[in-house]
Amino acid sequence: MRLAIAAIFLISGLHGTAWAQKTPDPRTLPNGKTWTYDADSGHDIMRTCAACHGEFGEGGGGGVYPRISGLHPEYLAEQLRAFKSRARENIPMIPYANERELPEKDVLDVTYYLASITPPKHPPSDDVPMDAFQRLILAKQAVQIPRQPGDIETGQKLYNADCMECHARDGQGRVKKPPLAQQHPTYLRAQIALMLSDRRKHDDVDELMRTKSPKDWDDLWAYVSTLDD
Ligand code: HEC
Ligand code: HEC
Repeated sequence: MRLAIAAIFLISGLHGTAWAQKTPDPRTLPNGKTWTYDADSGHDIMRTCAACHGEFGEGGGGGVYPRISGLHPEYLAEQLRAFKSRARENIPMIPYANERELPEKDVLDVTYYLASITPPKHPPSDDVPMDAFQRLILAKQAVQIPRQPGDIETGQKLYNADCMECHARDGQGRVKKPPLAQQHPTYLRAQIALMLSDRRKHDDVDELMRTKSPKDWDDLWAYVSTLDD
């Protein structure tokens, strides 16, 4: 097992994310204990999450369970804290996101672990030489969004006008503004529905979201689904 974990780190290291470079400093937790990142603990905690979010946080259930790998650790931690306080509603996660199951130390370990995985945009091509184990891991970690129906050009205009400023030109987001690229469309659409019904907070919902027609949304997600091509 240790070997497997080491190999995974080696591989994710090769595809290192910008977030993963920042080694967190030791911190004092609310209970007075010190926290320093423990990757083995992060990996262990992730086993609980894997049932829904996939072994490497790549998402699952046809996109009902979001991709959580490679997201910024501060965004991930903030969402977990919001689930724990119920500021963000998430009924399936209630048994996991509470102080007993997921104390602050575990929130930090699992979020830094998830942030250390960069999901490749494609499974590795047959031309690239690598051993079978490496190939298998990278194929499992890959998050490739199938092309969504809609007009890509119109979607690009909408995206650039309304979303790019925060979610970035390449859709990969920045710090506490999560990526929309390489995120499952079923999940993204569900979040918009929650925002429109005031069950999840988002900036400027009236201007950015309430003004859009079903066709606008199709076009927007069609464009976003090409960002990982
Ligand atoms: C029983 C299934 C289930 C398990 C187990 C589970 N989750 Fe989730 N998780 C969900 C669902 C469903 C959502 C989406 C909720 C929504 O639609 O807003 C979610 C959303 C999230 C999000 C928000 C992602 C985003 O982009 O905002 C994070 C972060 C997350 N989960 C982390 C975890 C971690 C870490 C664990 C393990 C400690 C875990 N989850 C275990 C079902 C699960
Ligand atoms: C002013 C900045 C800003 C703009 C502009 C913006 N967003 Fe966001 N968006 C955010 C932030 C911040 C969050 C995280 C909210 C949270 O912490 O729960 C977010 C979250 C989201 C999420 C949830 C993603 C997830 O992983 O759970 C979706 C979907 C989303 N935005 C879609 C859009 C779309 C579509 C547009 C353009 C029409 C847009 N946003 C424009 C700041 C912005």
